[in-house]
Amino acid sequence: MTQQIPPQTNISQLAALLHKQVQTAGGISFADFMAQALYHPQYGYYIAPRDRIGKSGDFFTSSSVNRIFGHLVARQLAQMAELLTAETFQIVEQGGGEGHLALDILEALAEESPELYARSTYTLVEVSPDNCQRQRHNLNAHVGKVTWCAENDWSITSGCFVSNELVDAFPVHVVEKHSGVVQEVFVVSHEGSFAEEVRESTNPRLTEHFAWLGCGPVEGNRAEVNLVAPDWMRQVGQRIEQGFVLTIDYGYPAEELYAPHRRAGTLMCYHRHQADDNPYESVGEKDITTHVDFTALRKAGSEAGLETLWFGEQYRFLLGLGFFEELLRLEAAASDENEARALRLTLKNLIVPEAGMGETFKMLIQGKNVGTPELLCNRAIGSIPFV
Ligand SMILES: C[S@@+](CC[C@H](N)C(=O)[O-])C[C@H]1O[C@@H](n2cnc3c(N)ncnc32)[C@H](O)[C@@H]1O
Repeated sequence: MTQQIPPQTNISQLAALLHKQVQTAGGISFADFMAQALYHPQYGYYIAPRDRIGKSGDFFTSSSVNRIFGHLVARQLAQMAELLTAETFQIVEQGGGEGHLALDILEALAEESPELYARSTYTLVEVSPDNCQRQRHNLNAHVGKVTWCAENDWSITSGCFVSNELVDAFPVHVVEKHSGVVQEVFVVSHEGSFAEEVRESTNPRLTEHFAWLGCGPVEGNRAEVNLVAPDWMRQVGQRIEQGFVLTIDYGYPAEELYAPHRRAGTLMCYHRHQADDNPYESVGEKDITTHVDFTALRKAGSEAGLETLWFGEQYRFLLGLGFFEELLRLEAAASDENEARALRLTLKNLIVPEAGMGETFKMLIQGKNVGTPELLCNRAIGSIPFV
């Protein structure tokens, strides 16, 4: 059955290429469509030069909101470094965007823990040449400290692997459950526009994934399956001898992600700070993203020796690491009440649950060969003096 979607008015070069491909193949999986829309070697959203992050781009990330985010992450990294015995503390960040988080972490280490800064290395793993260039520019002050390497080329003897909003950018399969059977959404061409066809799935990995996860969509619902994410997490685990993995992203545990009320999945597109759910319009000019399945990440991680040490909402992580104390310090340093109010309004985005990034955003901290340390972010909210 072909599902009509609104006709596409803005046919980019990438859309034209994809139309040809879809017609020749008689349809491609949504995962293949999304992979090209985001990562086509010439026209993909993350590959072609454009402003993506921040006011002049399509969306904000926590690290682009304010440097306090990276500074608090750095505080957690500094404690992790104390828990490790090796001289060199290796930080590897994958999918660093324009390098905001790297910059804020390095700045905070240089200011608050200069001894640790001196014995740290920072490696960026980035698939987009445009973002690599932006990272080099933004990290100019730390030249010599930062290096870049390919996805299969890094390893950590002792250190921490970090990602912020990487996993939500991995291509996903879209499925629907009908008559008890998981079917897959294919993208086809219909009267010059992209359309969707729900087909019997020919990919055994989809049903294998749900069996492995022990959870899946209920009858009649649409959902996404991120097959890249668990493979990626296993590889991350295998590349670490001793250390931590900090994964920051929006998402839910599997039971919540595949809950019956979530009838249409979580796929969203972002263009110039407008959200919509039509990935077939303005192909290559907008971000396509889905919520992350943290159960799958935890399960895959544990298969590679990564034990979950902490999992929770971003607001709890930030409060534990001193968000309020830092806010008070910055407010006291503001030149007037207007500046202090503007600061409060900006920073509020990082912790408020509903409209902001506080609750849907989660932090997953895993460890390999590090025991079960009490992490700084775990500080009880009740023990914060002015809450
Ligand atoms: C939403 S952005 C992340 C933003 C950034 N971490 C921040 O804090 O602002 C996703 C990033 O992941 C990169 N990316 C996607 N897949 C990747 C992969 N397999 N390896 C490395 N980078 C990847 C994209 O090019 C982009 O830089």
